[in-house]
Amino acid sequence: MQFHNQNNIILIIDFGSQLTKLIARRVREFGVYSEIITPINITKIKNFKNIKGIILSGGPSTVTKEAHQSIPNYIFKKKIPILGICYGHQLIAKLKGGKIKSSKKKREFGRAFIFKKNNSLLTKKFFKRNTTVWMSHEDAVVKLPKNFKVIASTKNSKLSIVENTKEKIFGVQFHPEVTHTDNGKLILKNFIFLICKIKKTWNILSQKKRLINEIKNTVKDDKVVCALSGGVDSSVTALLINRAIKKKLFCIMVDTGLMRKNEFEYTYLHFKKKYNLNVKLIDASKLFMKKLRNVKNPEKKRKIIGKLFIKIFEKESKKIKKVKFLAQGTLYPDIIESRSSTGSKTSKIKSHHNVGGLPKKMKLELIEPLKEFFKDEVRALGKSIGLSKNLCFKHPFPGPGLGIRIIGNLTKEKIRILQEADYIYINELKKSNLYDKIWQAYAALLPTKTVGVMGDSRTYEYTCLLRAVKSEDGMTADYFNFPKDFIDKISNKIINNVKGINRVVYDITSKPPSTIELE
Ligand code: XMP
Repeated sequence: MQFHNQNNIILIIDFGSQLTKLIARRVREFGVYSEIITPINITKIKNFKNIKGIILSGGPSTVTKEAHQSIPNYIFKKKIPILGICYGHQLIAKLKGGKIKSSKKKREFGRAFIFKKNNSLLTKKFFKRNTTVWMSHEDAVVKLPKNFKVIASTKNSKLSIVENTKEKIFGVQFHPEVTHTDNGKLILKNFIFLICKIKKTWNILSQKKRLINEIKNTVKDDKVVCALSGGVDSSVTALLINRAIKKKLFCIMVDTGLMRKNEFEYTYLHFKKKYNLNVKLIDASKLFMKKLRNVKNPEKKRKIIGKLFIKIFEKESKKIKKVKFLAQGTLYPDIIESRSSTGSKTSKIKSHHNVGGLPKKMKLELIEPLKEFFKDEVRALGKSIGLSKNLCFKHPFPGPGLGIRIIGNLTKEKIRILQEADYIYINELKKSNLYDKIWQAYAALLPTKTVGVMGDSRTYEYTCLLRAVKSEDGMTADYFNFPKDFIDKISNKIINNVKGINRVVYDITSKPPSTIELE
């Protein structure tokens, strides 16, 4: 538990839903501090004084089974308002004496119409004509607990919103935290402000001084190394630490040769000249190419890139004498993800390349100044310490870089072709003011060559795939709907300017079922 002297806290108990982070983020967007804990850790809370509201998240398990995650009954006696979402709603009903039924026939996934039955503070201004909510459940509450009343129903979930006014306990079967629920934010807002009566006291900028002081007090006269990639997280980490300990921070940039056109040089010069940081640039592109020659398998590529990166970073940082700390741009969602509330391992979809293996190997102490924050908070923090807009609002970029955006084996020529196409695409997005409306956009190179005709000649060249998605956190994503004129323009510009591409396609899949990256 951290709480950081916050005295207006919404506590979120995580039963394992992928959406728990989104609840916490929404609460913070309202200017209220939220923290996520696992059900096991509730018993460790000694003082509930500053906790003004509790939200029980959704989760994959079922209260209809003997063994299910729960909360201690004394939580209800603390007189703190409680809102249960999906699994949380069912758990409240179960603990308060209601009935829950599992039904494969009456399950609801996706949108459902919701009908008002009674007034409630929780649903103030929530119902419009044909309000739809986003459902994802097989279990449903079928009998109200004592002293609860129904506020709203859907076709398959008669007790979709319930409340116990006296005890200030609420349950919603749907997910108000997702954008697919109409006015979903209002449910959370009403809970926080009308029911918990909490004050807006959370502001990332007010944390800046504390963070800088904490770094100073931790590092004292020692040295810190940091792998700088030019992504938002490592850039804010580096600049923040520099603001605290100045030249005792040493940044190392490992150029894998798999970065976007001009980006690495831009970042290097920016940090070195504009911010006057200690930055060392290591050109390791030849070594990466050598190790990746003829490697087609995506997982193998990821592992080779990750391992080599760590090796080079380790070697370079050893050249700096007497380093005690390693700084990393770990964010709050990374921390939540790495501690599973259910104890079950989620299946590994892709191995992510981080410098995660480093601290153990290098015997360095970790400094992770961003570990309490969400990405949007990190961006605001970056802006406030003078990080340029280009770096602050940059789209996410995967560690293995273009290595996983060139499908199949890598060659220097393919990297050049992709860099050119991607450069055109991203620049046009910026010129058309679309870049900031998109969560992530990139160009990829597909391995098959196809026939085309340019002028009077037949061509046989690569296909460029363009991807652009809207997302909240990369866990789910929808493709971005470009105006036809824009996509026409990009296609023409790439074909006319990039030798080696004769076909452009736009990826219109969402995540799930696809992922954002191709490999
Ligand atoms: P996927 O492809 O899994 O990507 O839908 C979700 C988000 O994660 C980014 N990504 C990575 N980030 N190292 C990273 O730091 C990686 O190895 C990596 N692989 C994917 C991806 O760009 C998207 O934002």
